Amino acid sequence: MRAVLVTGGAGYVGSILVRRLLQRGYRVICLDALHFGGESLLDVWENEAFHFHRCDITDAAEVTAILDHYEGIDAVVHLAAVVGDPASKRQPELTHRTNWDASVHLLDQAVRHHIPRFLFASTCSNYGKMADPGGFVDETSPLAPVSLYAELKVRFEQYLLHDRGRPSWFCPTALRFATVYGISHRMRFDLTVNEFTKELALGRELVVFGEQFWRPYCHVADFSHAMLAVLEAAPEQVAGEVFNVGDNNENYTKGMLLEQLLLLFPEARIRRMELKDDPRDYRVRFDKIQKRLGFAIAHTVPEGMRDMRRLLELGLLSEPDHPRYYNIPHSAP
Ligand SMILES: NC(=O)c1ccc[n+]([C@@H]2O[C@H](COP(=O)([O-])OP(=O)(O)OC[C@H]3O[C@@H](n4cnc5c(N)ncnc54)[C@H](O)[C@@H]3O)[C@@H](O)[C@H]2O)c1
Repeated sequence: MRAVLVTGGAGYVGSILVRRLLQRGYRVICLDALHFGGESLLDVWENEAFHFHRCDITDAAEVTAILDHYEGIDAVVHLAAVVGDPASKRQPELTHRTNWDASVHLLDQAVRHHIPRFLFASTCSNYGKMADPGGFVDETSPLAPVSLYAELKVRFEQYLLHDRGRPSWFCPTALRFATVYGISHRMRFDLTVNEFTKELALGRELVVFGEQFWRPYCHVADFSHAMLAVLEAAPEQVAGEVFNVGDNNENYTKGMLLEQLLLLFPEARIRRMELKDDPRDYRVRFDKIQKRLGFAIAHTVPEGMRDMRRLLELGLLSEPDHPRYYNIPHSAP
């Protein structure tokens, strides 16, 4: 049985990945500090192939000890981070320690233990603002991070793929994820599609700034499909590579998201606020992952909105405004 170490496995993305890996017969070693609780892992708890360590990855000695404890780990999937521009802006020192120092240490330990694969969760927000407002960016386009969050993602990508020096057996890959949405075992409502749908499903007025700016979107379950595609690809297909994760047809402006929402909520109250400039405005191509790995998304934004509306209208989440669903301090309106 192959073994994968996942950092941040209790999170929005990680809690789905952990289940997919277990379903496919992997042994999973999960490291998480449980900043948003551990309920997302309850039903995998008794799985014998699941090993959990409540570990803060900024504790270098503990990370070293955990890696020393296991033999035969085949891959590290590194998801744990201070996530998003607002959270990073509020906690710059913690962000440096987590997203840079701890990531470098984890990578060094992975190489020291001859773990062949290292998969890093990066972001399309590395592209910042497109040079050509009518065009697209792809993996070869210049990067223009406009936040500490994206700056450190760019810096770690560069270190992982180039600056550290790569032994011939080592297969590192960076995935630049589109903006994520969808239902997960740890919900997040600080993400555009989820937040917009939630506000309207709860009958509130939605206030939207800058509806002309582009972003690509991708369902959280499709993130896991992409990570599995990379983990199971021949090393020469993915070693030292960057892949955007998403789909060419899933680039939307906020205005286009509102059009979709109005189909679901014809009575919606929406206040559109003008925003002349946004430092992040990017429309992304995803041909590389599709052509090289045969990756295709299974979900679209309109389907994700419908799903989310159903979940909320049926009351499956008893307290959708609870701060545990936000990576930044939040209070109900
Ligand atoms: N569109 C994008 O650009 C995009 C979208 C989503 C996620 N991502 C990336 O994917 C990864 C996962 O994001 P997510 O949405 O699941 O976020 P999340 O906040 O839901 O999950 C992060 C998990 O990491 C854990 N964690 C945080 N700091 C830790 C530490 N110091 N030690 C141990 N565990 C720690 C948290 O407890 C949490 O369970 C992140 O690296 C994020 O940057 C990118």
